[in-house]
Amino acid sequence: MWKSVIAAGAVLSLAACSDSGGSNPPTSAPEPEAPAPVSAAQGEEPEVGAAAAGPADGEVELPADYKSWSVFLSGIQKAETKQIRDIYLNAQAESASAAPLPDGSVLVMEIYSVETDDAGEAVLGEDGQMQKKALSKVFVMEKNAGWGGGQPEGLANGNWVYAAYEGNGAPAQVEYNACRACHAPLVDQDYVHRYPEYLGQR
Ligand code: HEC
Repeated sequence: MWKSVIAAGAVLSLAACSDSGGSNPPTSAPEPEAPAPVSAAQGEEPEVGAAAAGPADGEVELPADYKSWSVFLSGIQKAETKQIRDIYLNAQAESASAAPLPDGSVLVMEIYSVETDDAGEAVLGEDGQMQKKALSKVFVMEKNAGWGGGQPEGLANGNWVYAAYEGNGAPAQVEYNACRACHAPLVDQDYVHRYPEYLGQR
């Protein structure tokens, strides 16, 4: 099953973007900056030549103006990984009234570290919420006609292609098959985890 595929990306999947249920993220996980080893076998290369049109994972650009886009969800508190996440969507994605999202849709998720005390525990503000410290990663998913093909079974995500950046905008070294494996089961909501809270209510 798809879970076996993410083994190599477990560092990333648990530390940087975990919570999809069953797994047990280490509560004392270090910051996600520790780069997951990038193996030559990951999905950077088109698996089935002709079918893999469009950019490969990692080649989708970080949109320069995403901060001016609509907010999809903000202040998502991830206590287990001590992160706060904000998600933005571009106009094409916002125009969707049902899954699947239209071609040209882009979703950007910022991942912030949180303020911690000397013991490494998250410091809560007066509102009882963790407090943002620094932008550590920016994840992007974009879809277009003909993109995302050539993936092995279990890693197909329709026409979506993924990219990850450091907080300073440099490309992040991540295991893209882990992104795919964790989003792949969500066929009914076009591979978007938070679809029900936002697009599903339109
Ligand atoms: C362990 C599972 C898992 C992995 C691995 C994972 N994600 Fe996600 N992703 C999620 C969940 C869950 C959300 C919803 C936001 C939240 O609760 O953190 C999400 C949200 C997103 C979103 C916002 C749209 C949405 O689906 O709601 C983007 C963009 C995204 N992820 C990109 C990536 C990229 C790029 C990678 C790989 C570098 C990645 N994800 C790896 C589980 C995962």
